[in-house]
Order: sequence, then C-alpha cells, then structure tokens
Amino acid sequence: MAILPIRRAGDPVLREKARRVRTIDKSIHKLIEDMWETMYDAPGVGLAAPQIGISLRVVVIDAHDPAYEPLALVNPEIIKRSGERLLDEGCLSVPGFRGQITRSVKVLAKGIDPATGKEVRIRAEDDLMAEALEHEIDHVNGILYIDYLPSPDALVPVDDAPEIGG
Ligand code: NI
Repeated sequence: MAILPIRRAGDPVLREKARRVRTIDKSIHKLIEDMWETMYDAPGVGLAAPQIGISLRVVVIDAHDPAYEPLALVNPEIIKRSGERLLDEGCLSVPGFRGQITRSVKVLAKGIDPATGKEVRIRAEDDLMAEALEHEIDHVNGILYIDYLPSPDALVPVDDAPEIGG
C-alpha cells in the first residue's frame, strides 16, 4: 500500500471524465488499497481515483456512520436523487477552503463492489453518505464542488481545524 499525493484543483486530471473499469483485476485492488490509505491519511471521508492522478471510475467513502460500512465502488453512478439542501462542503483537492453549495437530500447510487464483482445499490438520505456519494461521483465526471459556488468569493478559507473533505 502507498500514500499518494493528492492532486489539487488546476490539475487537468481532475477535469477529465474518467474511464470505466472493464476488469476488476489486481491493479484495481491495489489502486483501491492505495486510495483507502491516502484517504485515511489525509484525513478525508472519501476519495476518487482521479484525485491520485488515475483517471478511472473508482471511489472510496467512509462516512464514519454506523449505518454504513466503508464503501469502495467501481463504475459508480447516481441512479436517482431528489430534494435540495444547503451544505458546507470541502474537498481534499481544494485544501484550506470550504464553501456552501446545494446538494440532494435523497440519493440512490449503484456501482460494482470490487470484493464480489457484483452490483450494489446504496440509499442515503440527508446525511454525510448522501453528500459524499454525490461529491465522489462528481469527481469521476470531472466536476468539483467549487463549480457549484455562486461566485469565487463564496469560497471561504478554513483556518481552524483541518477541514474534512473528500
Ligand atoms: Ni473532493
């Protein structure tokens, strides 16, 4: 396993639409191990493969919520979302800042569980998991949360505790 440098906003890899994974082979399992280690080291609640420079559709999330196991998803997609809520969000690729954006209340996502190779569905509502699913799946589509800010000065510096992002 390895802790890898996290790419920052401005790096073109964060703006690519990442490629689908065709086969969950050893290299994908190794990638996921590196993603977990990098995410927990940051620390963050989620990480997408493009954030360590790998343009593949792979995400990991640990919402630190007993309702969910730490989740690795290959080729994740949002199937359904509804409602709106305002959230104060951060991102490991935009260190030192937070900003208020609108996210969904209910999220239904699917993807392949790399441990079994089978499709799984995750339902989340009005919690950190719902936010993280949207945030990380945005990353594999080349979207950053700052894209949703109404203006650049809506980005607020964080100068106290380290921000938790994904
Ligand atoms: Ni992020």
